[in-house]
Amino acid sequence: MDPYKYRPSNHFDAPYWTTNSGVPVWNNNNSLTVGSRGPVLLEDYHLIEKLAQFDRERIPERVVHARGATAKGFFEVTHDISHLTCADVFRAPGVQTPVITRFSTVIHERGSPETLRDPRGFAVKFYTREGNWDLVGNNMPVFFIRDGIKFPDMIHALKPNPKNHLQEDWRIADFFSHVPEAMHMFTFLQDDVGIPLNYRHMEGFGVHTFTLINKEGKITYVKFHWKPACGVKCLLEDEAVTVGGSNHSHATKDLYDSIAAGDYPEWKLMIQTMEVADEDKFDFDPLDDTKTWPEDIFPLQPVGRMVLNKNPDNFFNENEQVAYCPALIVPGIGYSDDKMLQTRIFSYADTQRYRLGPNYLMLPVNAPKNVHHNNHHDGVMNFMHRDEEVNYFPSRFDPVRHSEKYPYQNMKVSGNREKMCIAKENNFAQAGARWRSFDPARQNRFINRIAGMLTAPRVTQEVRRVWLGYMSQCDSTLGQKLAAKVQAASQM
Ligand code: HEM
Repeated sequence: MDPYKYRPSNHFDAPYWTTNSGVPVWNNNNSLTVGSRGPVLLEDYHLIEKLAQFDRERIPERVVHARGATAKGFFEVTHDISHLTCADVFRAPGVQTPVITRFSTVIHERGSPETLRDPRGFAVKFYTREGNWDLVGNNMPVFFIRDGIKFPDMIHALKPNPKNHLQEDWRIADFFSHVPEAMHMFTFLQDDVGIPLNYRHMEGFGVHTFTLINKEGKITYVKFHWKPACGVKCLLEDEAVTVGGSNHSHATKDLYDSIAAGDYPEWKLMIQTMEVADEDKFDFDPLDDTKTWPEDIFPLQPVGRMVLNKNPDNFFNENEQVAYCPALIVPGIGYSDDKMLQTRIFSYADTQRYRLGPNYLMLPVNAPKNVHHNNHHDGVMNFMHRDEEVNYFPSRFDPVRHSEKYPYQNMKVSGNREKMCIAKENNFAQAGARWRSFDPARQNRFINRIAGMLTAPRVTQEVRRVWLGYMSQCDSTLGQKLAAKVQAASQM
């Protein structure tokens, strides 16, 4: 073995304590001092290294989705969709691909309770034979906004007030009074599914429209759905108070304990598909992430199953350092022109270069498990062993060539340069239909929650009026009932 070749450090390979540079430590109890009482000498390198390492243990938490839990397992194809996509991960029924999945809450800090009303992240990294594919979704099928330029403002409004660090309804109501397209998402967030029982009992959605590309280069629009084998279950407010009051990490614990007990969580992967030629035929824009595709027109088709059967070996390595990114797709899967998706393609890798450093994709949890060859090199914390002399392309000395060409999206793109909203906003119809699909008790719980927000301190009459207008456009009965509730509550 080459003694100079980089070897990942493993503290179990020495029978005694060492410094980070491998020097034996003979006393890990006492600092080096003048006499037994001190002062402490600066030359105690081991002490300084130990403190310095400790002082740097924390990395920036994710700017959103800071609180989360991961588990590992596999995805298995159960139904053949090779006519739709040449993606290697879907090549044939029975094929298994390793995955790491992270569930998360969105708004609050890394240590915040897991019982708060919030969307839940549902991010899956597939280690395919043709590179890593990340499906970075949520437990709700739509999103608040349809243009990423609003994302930082939206998150600021939902996060704590910068002055007092408290999440405040008046800021949320105020911001979203300018965002009518968010009403559909509110029929999920302020519905019972706004507080899932735990991570095992929730659905997952890719949310955006992606594309599948087959061997012949045919492109089909697709939406991805995860359906939990154990069904969807939620907590009502008083249940959430009880659960959260006894354990603020109840969902992480539930996931960990069930895997440790051999009760492996499982989800079915389903897809909805749409011919690209049909995209203008509906009263909504199929690339608008504030919309669902009606399941009677676009039925759910089974594709595979995901089983999570292994807990993380180390939370920091596999939860804090895992980096999901919607830009990570593989041959056979493509982006659509959904503006939100396009914005996300930039944002994740950007924050990860900051949060984890420029070589974050070399970390074992993020690195591809297949092959890897390019001329990107060096940079902060680069720990890859390279011994090539040719680090430029093209070269007659480097035998590595381009991969075989795979079908890609070569659709024609044309249009004027614009800064404007999509034509078919249709902000309220699906929200109204969803509220009408609830039973009366569930409808009332929804109304109570929205009324609670609208009657919170500092919510102005103007903001209330705008919200009532939006809700009435979703459904006139909803609007009337909400108005009555708001009026009664504001007179109390
Ligand atoms: C995490 C940005 C929309 C799901 C993140 C992170 C950023 C971000 C910066 C932190 C990533 C990290 O530090 O590793 C954005 C922007 C969006 C957007 C700019 C809109 C343009 C969405 C949407 C969804 C979503 C629509 C759901 C479909 C997630 C999930 C995570 C995440 C699940 C956590 C991934 C993990 O577990 O590490 N987002 N996001 N985001 N986002 Fe988004």
